[in-house]
Amino acid sequence: MKEPDDKAMLNVFGAWTGQEELDEISPSVHSSWLGLGPKVAQFEAAFSARLDLPGLCLLDSGSNALFLAIKLLDLPPHSEVIVPSLTWVACAHAVLLAGHRPVFADVDLATQNITAEIAARAFNRNTKAIMVVHYAGKPVDMKSFPDFHVPLIEDAAHAVDSKIDGSFCGSFGDVAIYSFDAIKNIAMPEGGGLTAKDPALIERARSLRYCGISKSGHRADAGQRWWEHSIQAVMPKMLPNDINAGIGLAQLRKLDAHQTRRRVIWRIYQEEFSRLAWLTTPQEAGPNEQHSYFTYLIRLERRDALAGFLRDKGIYTTFRYYPLHMNPIYQSQHLTLPNCEQLNREGLNLPLHPRLSDSDIDRVIQGIRDFQ
Ligand SMILES: Cc1ncc(COP(=O)(O)O)c(C=O)c1O
Repeated sequence: MKEPDDKAMLNVFGAWTGQEELDEISPSVHSSWLGLGPKVAQFEAAFSARLDLPGLCLLDSGSNALFLAIKLLDLPPHSEVIVPSLTWVACAHAVLLAGHRPVFADVDLATQNITAEIAARAFNRNTKAIMVVHYAGKPVDMKSFPDFHVPLIEDAAHAVDSKIDGSFCGSFGDVAIYSFDAIKNIAMPEGGGLTAKDPALIERARSLRYCGISKSGHRADAGQRWWEHSIQAVMPKMLPNDINAGIGLAQLRKLDAHQTRRRVIWRIYQEEFSRLAWLTTPQEAGPNEQHSYFTYLIRLERRDALAGFLRDKGIYTTFRYYPLHMNPIYQSQHLTLPNCEQLNREGLNLPLHPRLSDSDIDRVIQGIRDFQ
């Protein structure tokens, strides 16, 4: 195999950061206040306003946001939670870490999303919550979900700019999470957000994110010894910080521009690749939906050959996600989920991020045209 020149390697994911992010974190660096502080509160307010949410609790990762979201639901111990198998490992880990059992469900082949029918098939009397994941930012068809009479956990890690009927994804679940890791549409080095329909849950999340310490230090009530903690629950440390939040604030201001670029790249790919009969392009957002264009997933029978061919041309691709029910750590459920398994054989994520130049896009298109 030819070793591509690393400098010329096109990445499949990527953030676009620069002077705006440096300007935003500069006051925190100069004031030597790097931890939880005013930038965190500013980011929480700005993000909630932009997405019209009742509030946001910023955390150190989307993975921990999932864990905390599930804890907030106070499910009976060992509850079953339906989780689509085509998702990031943290979705299942969070269920287990919270003391419950993930039950894996298939996804729709065309949208890569769980549907109401699939959820109904996986549902049984032990099911105490359902997790939905808006894969790539294509919204799950939330309107078709009947009331299953269990809470809905909405994973909008890919979907910060996705909408259904004018409402942003993240506003449909009883609890919902976002990811702001380094490759997401809003990129911090690491970060996650938690929101909920009930603002009291968001406040509760905020009081649990620091090892479950609701009051400490100078924030203690008057009259209390300020060094004595008030601990509500045994929780990990999931604290956000002002450096990540500052970067997030700059990213939030640039979100519209970055989304425009993502949309342009997506459109060019759709136009070019829909002419090729040997691959299947991703499904567009429906007429009442808005996509966030987090990633571009094609399907083809000779997936591995194309991935190798592009890699030799210095174009990196990947496949998200190795289905959880096939992962040895979760295989004990002995499930067959045909669409996840087909996607695992045929799915390939192509480079899509705002820093791709026009010539980068041409390289991807030419690389794929050359593969016959
Ligand atoms: C669908 C999904 N959920 C949750 C997460 C976890 O987010 P984080 O990486 O911020 O922990 C990710 C991360 O990639 C994800 O893709």
